[in-house]
Amino acid sequence: MATLIDPTSFVAAIAEWNADRDFPLPWFVTDVDPGALSLPSAFDAYVARLLSEREETTIRPAGFVPMTTLWWAEGDRLLGRLAIRHRLTPALERAGGHIGYDVRPSARRQGHATAMLAAALPIANALGIDEALLTCDDTNTASRRVIEANGGRFVGMAGPKRRYLVPTRG
Ligand SMILES: CC(C)(COP(=O)(O)OP(=O)(O)OC[C@H]1O[C@@H](n2cnc3c(N)ncnc32)[C@H](O)[C@@H]1OP(=O)(O)O)[C@@H](O)C(=O)NCCC(=O)NCCS
Repeated sequence: MATLIDPTSFVAAIAEWNADRDFPLPWFVTDVDPGALSLPSAFDAYVARLLSEREETTIRPAGFVPMTTLWWAEGDRLLGRLAIRHRLTPALERAGGHIGYDVRPSARRQGHATAMLAAALPIANALGIDEALLTCDDTNTASRRVIEANGGRFVGMAGPKRRYLVPTRG
């Protein structure tokens, strides 16, 4: 379950992601409601929106599927985020897959993405996903290692993306 944590940690993490030059800007950073970075009420509304996106009845139109967003945190410090898409579309089959994740730059290379994905697999299983499709750029060595450390089986390329199936039952 996602939990509310200190917004200042969220704001600082978003600033780090915006300043990161090692990886492209994550989609979810561009999707944060701008007011959520300064107004507690807007932050609450943003979290409420994320929670509503888990339900088929309240997802956004235009190609969105139900999605469970979870935050990886230590105490009240946000370290990363992860989203589980409950089902695939043809576009997600090619790029995106069931699970996407991002670790804030100052917390990278400490095993968080590997642990975060491991923690997400039973949740994906509970959502009815027996084998999760994960994709990453062929050049994204870090993400590739994260997926392979979690039992990912390479099933081929889709353009520049490597595609893996990851069993969700331990
Ligand atoms: C990819 C990403 C999630 C990895 O997070 P992380 O917490 O640093 O990953 P981990 O610490 O669990 O490291 C996993 C492995 O990748 C390696 N690694 C981490 N960063 C690396 C880098 N920049 N270059 C090469 N290898 C790297 C680690 O050494 C580790 O290898 P090992 O298992 O052989 O020891 C993080 O760099 C990130 O958020 N990138 C931007 C978003 C992104 O690419 N998301 C994935 C989209 S598919």
